[in-house]
This record gives sequence, C-alpha cells and structure tokens, in this order.
Amino acid sequence: MTSYKIAITGGTGPQGKGLAYRFAKAAHTVFIGSRSPERAKQAATDIARRVGDAARVSGMENAAAAESADVVLLAVPYDGHAALVASLRSQLVGKVVLSCVNPLGFDKHGPYGLDIADSSAAEEAQRIVPDAKLAGAFHHLSAVSLWSDAELLAHEDVLVCGDDDQAKTVAADLARAITGRAGIDVGALRLARQLEPLTAVLIGINRRYKVRSGIHIVGLGHDG
Ligand SMILES: NC(=O)c1ccc[n+]([C@@H]2O[C@H](COP(=O)([O-])OP(=O)(O)OC[C@H]3O[C@@H](n4cnc5c(N)ncnc54)[C@H](OP(=O)(O)O)[C@@H]3O)[C@@H](O)[C@H]2O)c1
Repeated sequence: MTSYKIAITGGTGPQGKGLAYRFAKAAHTVFIGSRSPERAKQAATDIARRVGDAARVSGMENAAAAESADVVLLAVPYDGHAALVASLRSQLVGKVVLSCVNPLGFDKHGPYGLDIADSSAAEEAQRIVPDAKLAGAFHHLSAVSLWSDAELLAHEDVLVCGDDDQAKTVAADLARAITGRAGIDVGALRLARQLEPLTAVLIGINRRYKVRSGIHIVGLGHDG
C-alpha cells in the first residue's frame, strides 16, 4: 500500500481522531489539525500512544497540517465547514481533499439530511476551492468503531464518490487501513448528495436498535 501524508482538519474530534488512529496504525503519516495547537498535540499524543510510534503522528494548527500533507481530510462539523475550507484555500489548491462531512439536522423526529445551497458538503468544498481534487468518503463509519480495539472493520465498506480519479484512488486506497480492502467507487461527486444524508438513516437505526450500524455492499464478490 502507498504510504500517504494525511492532514486531518478537525482531527481533535471523535471522527477525525478515529480515522487518524486507523491511518497511523496502517503506517501512514498523520498531521492532526485543529484551531488550537495544544488540542492537536494532545490528540496526536493519544494516537501515538495507541499505535506505539510518535514519529508517525503530530499535532498543529489546521493550516500547518494541510500545508505539510499531500492528502487533506475535512472532518469538521458542517457548521464550520465553509469558513474552514475558505481559510485553507491556498493550502488545498492542487491537493487531494477528502470529505467525510455530513450536513445533518436533528429534531423531535430524529436525524435528517439538511437541505443546503450546494446540495452536499463535498460539492460546497469543491466550489470554494475549484482546483482541489475532491472526493467524498468515510461518511458512514462510526467514530466509536474507528477508535475501538477491532483490528479492522472488515464487516463494513467505505463508499467513495468524486469527479477526480486521483482523489478517488487515494480514498479507496486509504479505506484499506479501515476495512482491509479498497473503498468502493460509487460514481460522481454529486452522489455525495445521497451519501451524506444516508448517515441520518444509520443514526436512526443506531438509536432505535442500540447498535453501531454501518454499510456493507453485496454483489461485488467480497460478501463474506
Ligand atoms: N462522529 C461520528 O461518528 C461521525 C461519523 C461519520 C462522519 N462524521 C462527520 O465527521 C465530521 C466530524 O465529526 P465529529 O463528530 O468528530 O465532530 P466534532 O467533534 O463536532 O468536531 C470535530 C472537530 O472540528 C473542530 N471544529 C468544531 N467546530 C468548528 C468550527 N466551527 N470551525 C472549525 N473547526 C471546528 C473541533 O476541533 P478544534 O476545536 O480542535 O479546532 C472539533 O474537535 C462531521 O462533519 C460529521 O458529520 C462524524
């Protein structure tokens, strides 16, 4: 597997930290990004302790992390997403940028996908930085499962969408660190409109059945 240098913006949150742990465990180099270098360093220390290699994980501000990496993962809440992407424009130009951002709302009926101007967070990021190589991925993995002791989340699939072949290849390759196999290319970036709100369905299932549900695609020959 290729070894990547990955920045995780919002890497102090459960999703970014969980993905960072999985990537570092698979021998990728990870730069945890945060608005606070102290919080980033603390998260990096927590991950380094778990993977037993401090050299592979470091913490810094989001911009420095994005500058240091060749792949940048957006793992911030949708609320802060547009402002963060705009603030990193110069660091993101020409780079592979992956988004796991799910614009969701919650009301008395439960979780639901937000109706947003750009139709999906991934397309919003692409509009803000047209020269970035965008792909959507990792939307449906639970942060708790990512941080768990499970060697791999082999019962799940990572679905990847995008219009840039390089970005999709990188996302599919990085999925190996999590599930043990390549992510599944589902098609164009606009399919983020379906992938992002699908997470509301999973959260609804989790709440109703007290489980950590996930996505597994049958029919591709890895049904197990
Ligand atoms: N949690 C899950 O199980 C899960 C699963 C799939 C996908 N996701 C998606 O992954 C993303 C992150 O999820 P999360 O649960 O880790 O979120 P989170 O804990 O709410 O936020 C992650 C990090 O983003 C930074 N942040 C918060 N507000 C920000 C703002 N306004 N501007 C810039 N940075 C901000 C914070 O880091 P600093 O304060 O250190 O900067 C925070 O630790 C979300 O878009 C979510 O939809 C989450």
